[in-house]
Amino acid sequence: LQEDRISGTLILAVLTAVLGSFQYGYSIGVINAPQKHPWVAPTEPNKAAPLNYTLSGDAPLNVIEAHYRLVLHGFQNESLVSSESTVSVHQSVTMYWSLSVSVFSIGGMFSSFLVGWVAETLGRVKGMLAINILAIFGSLLMGLAKFGPAHIMVIAGRTVLGLYCGLSSGLVPMYVGEISPTAYRGAFGTLHQLAIVTGILISQVIGLDFLLGNESLWPILLGLSGAPAILQIVLLLLCPESPVISTSNLGRSKKKLRGGQDITQDLAEMNNEKEEAKKQKKVSVGQLIIRPTYRQPLIVALMLHLSQQLSGINAIFYYSTGIFASAGVRQPVYTTIGVGAINWIFTLISVLLVDRAGRRRLILIGLVGMCLCAVVMTVGLTLTTLPWMSYLSIAAIFLFVSLFEIGPGPIPWFFVAELFNQGPRPAAIALAGFCNWASNFLIGLCFPHIEALCGSYVFVIFAVLLFFFALFTYCKVPETKGKSFEEIAAEFRKKKLTKLSGAQAVTEMEHLGGSSDA
Ligand code: GLC
Repeated sequence: LQEDRISGTLILAVLTAVLGSFQYGYSIGVINAPQKHPWVAPTEPNKAAPLNYTLSGDAPLNVIEAHYRLVLHGFQNESLVSSESTVSVHQSVTMYWSLSVSVFSIGGMFSSFLVGWVAETLGRVKGMLAINILAIFGSLLMGLAKFGPAHIMVIAGRTVLGLYCGLSSGLVPMYVGEISPTAYRGAFGTLHQLAIVTGILISQVIGLDFLLGNESLWPILLGLSGAPAILQIVLLLLCPESPVISTSNLGRSKKKLRGGQDITQDLAEMNNEKEEAKKQKKVSVGQLIIRPTYRQPLIVALMLHLSQQLSGINAIFYYSTGIFASAGVRQPVYTTIGVGAINWIFTLISVLLVDRAGRRRLILIGLVGMCLCAVVMTVGLTLTTLPWMSYLSIAAIFLFVSLFEIGPGPIPWFFVAELFNQGPRPAAIALAGFCNWASNFLIGLCFPHIEALCGSYVFVIFAVLLFFFALFTYCKVPETKGKSFEEIAAEFRKKKLTKLSGAQAVTEMEHLGGSSDA
């Protein structure tokens, strides 16, 4: 099969690109790593832990917060001051810390919107190359934090790194999708998520207090996120540009990616792409929203990104430490690393499965399974009088994370690139990325409050949302496995145009450049 060809250049290009995803994962995980979790095991065996323990304002300070306190208030030892001032000091330190955590998403939310513009003006490879300046600058700010006002430098560094991650979380799946042979597009696309979870896991491990997550070394822990950027800059110089960027470069680029092997079949596809690229006008975000032809794929793209975030996956990452602690685990941080490891293993399984089982089936299995897990978690957390219930909650958490990584986690990232051909693709990825970052930010912001209101019933909300997203996937999400970008786009066009009136259909065909299949 011509489609089965994978060259060294292709592998190098994919692995180089996902170094950007690795940085994204590292930045998500690293901020939890130096948290102190000095959970004192409940005096009564199996007595339920307060679920908001790790989120509540009176949780003990982590090493970075302790340093903030030193910079802001000039002391490290609480016993030296009155309890009244301790409370206000604690509040101001926590406020700066929360800001350090959340500015990352704000940066990402803002820059994800610019993905289309960067991808169009610079191209995919030069775009990834250029944005590394942000990664390096952000990392330097954090790595050198102890030489200046640490709280300001970390907040600035996290903002700049968020700007980088917002851009790379769009550019990487776009580039990988465009250079991959159709038969492996799912597996290569899932490598983006595999690199994210690798980043999360590595930051959790090297963030242990006896490694880098301690008083003296935390700036290195934060600053290290820039290291892959330097490696990526060097390797990107060896990577070919995406075939869709420069039509004049198309043959050379594809030949490199397919290892100089017989590319007769690719040539036909290339000519098709060339023709399409000539016909296709660049589509702005505004046009993408207005045009009826794009409505259906756009709704699917946005819903998949919403389902990824509103599944509650990141809330689970917060919650797990408190729940593990309630089951009597003395050092819950290790169990949290266990979740990171499971996360990694199941993403790898998804890489192997996605091009065989199909996207739609894996998302469905994932969402339905997660919905059931959320129900089990609620039961486990509510009926705490039964000793074994907390173990049930732990098992449900592990299963919830595994099911997320089978489909609902990795697939939305590359699915958007599959749903749109090159005209509307950059704008669609920008909009979907914005949706992902914004909902991620909202969950981070609202979860502690909703949890304070609903207690352990908070997971009922996620169960309902998951059920709704599973239903949507069943009714509306198409299978894209084994189809070329053109075939996928043509299916959507056909469906839409048959529903439009004669005049509307003509306007749409004019906009699309009069594709025959439309
Ligand atoms: C996805 C999500 C991210 C989450 C991660 C967990 O990449 O976008 O928010 O933290 O999966 O593995």
